[in-house]
Parts: sequence; structure tokens; C-alpha cells
Amino acid sequence: MALRNLIKQKTNLLGRGLGLGFNHRGLQTVSLPDLAYDYGALEPAISGEIMKIHHQKHHQAYITNYNKALEQLDDAINKGDASNVVKLQSAIKFNGGGHVNHSIFWKNLTPVSEGGGEPPKGSLGEAINAHFCSLEALVQKVNSEGAALQGSGWVWLALDKDAKKLVVETTTNQDPLVTKGPTLVPLLGIDVWEHAYYLQYKNVRPDYLKNIWKVINWKYASEVYEKECP
Ligand SMILES: [Fe+2]
Repeated sequence: MALRNLIKQKTNLLGRGLGLGFNHRGLQTVSLPDLAYDYGALEPAISGEIMKIHHQKHHQAYITNYNKALEQLDDAINKGDASNVVKLQSAIKFNGGGHVNHSIFWKNLTPVSEGGGEPPKGSLGEAINAHFCSLEALVQKVNSEGAALQGSGWVWLALDKDAKKLVVETTTNQDPLVTKGPTLVPLLGIDVWEHAYYLQYKNVRPDYLKNIWKVINWKYASEVYEKECP
């Protein structure tokens, strides 16, 4: 038991930066990951007010509700309560998906001073040209699919690992990309929920989509691509 607690303490320390930890029951929980930049560092593309609320309130709410659902699931499993195990799946998908998606989203952004908006180089740049003709054509496709998405959701640039192909996909609500196919790896995910832009762009989602490219972290997307598709 002492060894288990020691492992937990060590994992908590290591996991803090990764948004991982254990709760009082010993369940693996998630916590809010730090951003690699200040809230105001993406201005004028995305306001500091939006970033702060988005990270501290919205992302935190998904985390709180996901951890709560995990505890309830643990209870239901221990009691053999199949009905509740099934009932909890939608809360786990929604809130767990919210955590997964936002954790990727923060890494997809970076200030202009850190290379935000600089076009992808190397093999990802070449793959974009091969699959979409040009970066401009890809941006247009993502913006058009993101603008057309009804309600709330996400628009993604993904690598289909099996087909070795780049694809643009959308998911609704907080569905993570994996719900569209187990071989899809997210390179870039853009949050098109109103909470991501309304305070600054009001109802004009296309303007938000146009400006977000100025702070896209293509270096991160390239690193993921090169790791998955060497
Ligand atoms: Fe969001």
C-alpha cells in the first residue's frame, strides 16, 4: 500500500504538467494544463479576455465534470450497476472530449513572436501541397467547413495513418476526432464553439476563422506529422 501511495505521489508530480493526477480514491484524474504563452499573447487575433475565460472557465468545467463522471462511473462499476455505467457514457464523451480537444487546441496556437502563422516547412508543407494543392487552398477548405458547421464543434486537419493521407474533418459538440475514425491523428483542431470567439467577433465566425491562422503553431503540427509519418 505504501508503495502504491509513493508511486501515486511521483506520478502526480510528473503528471501535473501533462494534466494528470490521482484523486482521493486513487482514480486517475485530469487537471488543467498550463498554456505555453500568456493569455494576451495572441492578440490581436484572439483577445486575452477570450483566452482567459476559455482556458480557466470553459476548459476547467470540462475537466471538473469529466473527473466527477469518472467517480460516478467507478461507483457504478463497483456496484455492478450496468444501467448507470451506460448512462454515464454521454457525460464522459462530452466532458472527456472537451478536455482532449482543448488540450490539443492550446498547442495549436502560438504568438506571432514565437512563430505563430509561419507556414509549415518540411514534410508537412510538402504533404499539404500534394493533398490540397497549396496552403491557401487548405485554409480555404478548413474555413469553409468550419463556417458551415451547424451549432458547436470543431474543424480538424488530420493525418489518416492507414491511408497516409491528410484530411479535413469536422466533429460536433465536443466529439474528439477519434470518433470519426480510429486511424485519424489530429494535427490541427480549431474550436468553432461561440465561446471561442463571440466576445471579440460576435456572430461573425468567418472573421475569427480568417484571423486565427495568424497565430497557428505549424511547428507543433509538423512535429506530430513527422512523428506519425516518418
Ligand atoms: Fe472551447
